[in-house]
Amino acid sequence: MRHFVIVSILTAAMTYVIYVGLTSLGLMPVHASTQATSIDWLWDWQMRAMSFLFALIVAPMSYALVVFHRRKGETGEGQHFEGNYNLEIAWTVLPLFAVFAFAYMGAYSLGEVRRLDPNAMVIRVHAVQWNWTFEYPDYGFSSDVLHLPINRQIRLLMESTDVIHSFWVPEFRVKQDLVPGRVTELLITPDRLGAYRVRCAELCGISHSYMEDDVLVEETADFEEWALEQQAIAIEASKTPEGRGRILAATYCLGCHSITSTQLSGVAAPVWLGLFGKTETLQDGSSVVVDEAYLIESILNPLARIVHGFTPNMPQTFANTLSADQINDIIAFIKTLK
Ligand code: CUA
Repeated sequence: MRHFVIVSILTAAMTYVIYVGLTSLGLMPVHASTQATSIDWLWDWQMRAMSFLFALIVAPMSYALVVFHRRKGETGEGQHFEGNYNLEIAWTVLPLFAVFAFAYMGAYSLGEVRRLDPNAMVIRVHAVQWNWTFEYPDYGFSSDVLHLPINRQIRLLMESTDVIHSFWVPEFRVKQDLVPGRVTELLITPDRLGAYRVRCAELCGISHSYMEDDVLVEETADFEEWALEQQAIAIEASKTPEGRGRILAATYCLGCHSITSTQLSGVAAPVWLGLFGKTETLQDGSSVVVDEAYLIESILNPLARIVHGFTPNMPQTFANTLSADQINDIIAFIKTLK
């Protein structure tokens, strides 16, 4: 009985020390959404359970090693035991209850995370290799930065045009894949002002690790002001081919291509500034003038004639994604970049 009491106290103390140690490491980033609250609550209970189970093994084992080891001169057999019904019932029933408890907590947490607010604002998320675009249907424009008003539920309806990507902002905790051919949904209610990053959490090709964009959680008034400004710009831009091309380029091209003279980090893609009309040397040593025909070929069949110094990285999916009119609009935009 004395050993039992000592081991119980040791196990409880060890559980506490491990739990406090693990939680003080700051493994989680700040939480910035109401969905994060129930996920962190569930996570916290799992940390308690993990700390207890670790202590439950290590504390009795260490105690037994110290107290019951064979002394000098002892040569006999240890005491034999045959079964213990009470112990067997306890170690069957208690874990069963623990599993049921965690199943209930998990289901409750999932219910909280997926509770749809009828006043949620819809934002459509488009993913292509290797770029995010956020479309605001209530306002009629798209952006490559995700602006969110604070304390309002956002319903993200997400689509991918090529491969599987995954939308993940660690501070919001929730994560969801984008699967070609279907629309997936994610609910986020931001409750902390600040700047975060959305990253792609599914290995999706050579530039997967650069598939990141800014996420800004703003006061409602600041968000409204920005959205109305973007709406006005989009209405103006949609009147000309180059304006439409600029919007399309932001969605499909500018994750890799830079329009200014500096190369985007990590992605070897031709810079668009001054590209149209330029004479480029190809890999086989011949040269080509970058005219409309060459740009169309490079979009539809990007591996046909690659400029010297570049690797064949460009996705070959745009023949399915972009219409002829859209390609002409993009080329009209490239022509303006002198
Ligand atoms: Cu998209 Cu990884």
